[in-house]
Amino acid sequence: MANKIVETKGIMGWIDARFPLTSNIKNHLTEYYAPKNFNFWYFFGSLAMLVLVLQIVTGIFLTMHYKPDAAQAFASVEYIMRDVFGGNIIRYMHSTGASMFFIVVYLHMFRGVIYGSYRNPRELIWLFGVAIFLCLMGEAFFGYLLPWGQMSYWGAQVIVNLFSAIPFIGPDISEWLRGDYLISDATLNRFFAFHVIALPMVLLGLVAAHLIALHEVGSNNPDGVEIKEKKDKKTGIPLDGIPFHPYYTVKDLVGVVVFLIVFAAIICFAPEMGGYFLEANNFIPADSLKTPAHIAPVWYFTPYYSILRAVPPVMNSQFPGVAAMGLSVMAFALLPWLDRSPVKSIRYRGSLYKRWLAAFVVSFFVLGYLGTVPTTVWGQLGEWSKDIVDTRDCATWVARIFTFIYFAFFILMPWYTSKDKTLPVPERVTY
Ligand code: HEM
Repeated sequence: MANKIVETKGIMGWIDARFPLTSNIKNHLTEYYAPKNFNFWYFFGSLAMLVLVLQIVTGIFLTMHYKPDAAQAFASVEYIMRDVFGGNIIRYMHSTGASMFFIVVYLHMFRGVIYGSYRNPRELIWLFGVAIFLCLMGEAFFGYLLPWGQMSYWGAQVIVNLFSAIPFIGPDISEWLRGDYLISDATLNRFFAFHVIALPMVLLGLVAAHLIALHEVGSNNPDGVEIKEKKDKKTGIPLDGIPFHPYYTVKDLVGVVVFLIVFAAIICFAPEMGGYFLEANNFIPADSLKTPAHIAPVWYFTPYYSILRAVPPVMNSQFPGVAAMGLSVMAFALLPWLDRSPVKSIRYRGSLYKRWLAAFVVSFFVLGYLGTVPTTVWGQLGEWSKDIVDTRDCATWVARIFTFIYFAFFILMPWYTSKDKTLPVPERVTY
């Protein structure tokens, strides 16, 4: 015999008898207690969700007119830009959205680093985050081939070829990824499939897991104090907690408004961002017979690309560079276990840690810049410099020094975080 449904009154009562709507709203919004001292760094999680939705919605509209065919792809994008009603706005929202996604996610990750949000009990939130980051990189890489411009084509050529540096199985992996002996129509088709369906689905699943893990343990905060340790004896509500809704839904809206103003300004006035968001070479159709003089990935990949170029080949194999590049991204996953400090937040850490963090940030930016320019960038100082110094290798050596600092930040972390002189952490959150 079927269970009898006990219903309360109204539409909500009808739904609640069949689906846990009210209890979910309570558990995740109105009775989810977040620390009361969140600052602007806490905007970037909700902004990342906003950009994810914007990318999916604009992507759906682009897919209505885009043709995943090597003979038609480039022209279909031009058609969207010139003839489809609102097409240029939608396309620029999507291309600008890709860069904004990385800006928001990098700031979101940086927040996690400075407040020690990856530490116990939030290791899984962080690991899901790293998986999201990898997925996002894949999503951006696959999407970049779709306009079928010169940089799409040659960028994909360089990156897919990197896999062939892996000993023994590398060449087969490259061919398997391309579906051909060179980047071709078959490659475009499979990249399209990954970009529009496979990876977005994985991304959505990972974001759901990220948030479920977050709501299981609760948010960290700028003090790194666990608010669940001090609860009201009667109600069981954390003394330093406030309901997520309405307090943070309203506060996050401020971040959304500021973000949308910046986003709209870029789309309207600088959608190419001086070649950083959309490169000039990508307005030329792909030509498999004409290699561009300088091939560089989009800015968000350039720190890792610099590391790839900085590591010299060993016995004619590029594998050490490829491995270093892979490790430079994967290293983030190890942070929860490398950090041995007794405190979480940067507010209570000593100068040793702060100096290492500053060195890491500087190396990230320097490597990022160097990845956008040819390695011979300082090779053209002029005739006068020839006898004094050979500047052709300068950029490579600078990249090597900063690659060294980049990895030292991770490798030496157990040492300098345990040596660091920390300050006492307050019992309750401060402002
Ligand atoms: C699509 C990308 C992402 C989305 C939509 C997303 C979403 C969110 C949201 C909504 C929050 C709660 C609000 C906040 O604390 O800001 C959060 C927290 C967090 N996220 Fe993400 N996230 C993304 C990527 C990442 C990445 C790449 C990492 C790290 C590698 C990461 C690590 C964290 C951590 C550690 C927290 C807890 C922060 C704390 O409690 O202090 N997230 N995320």
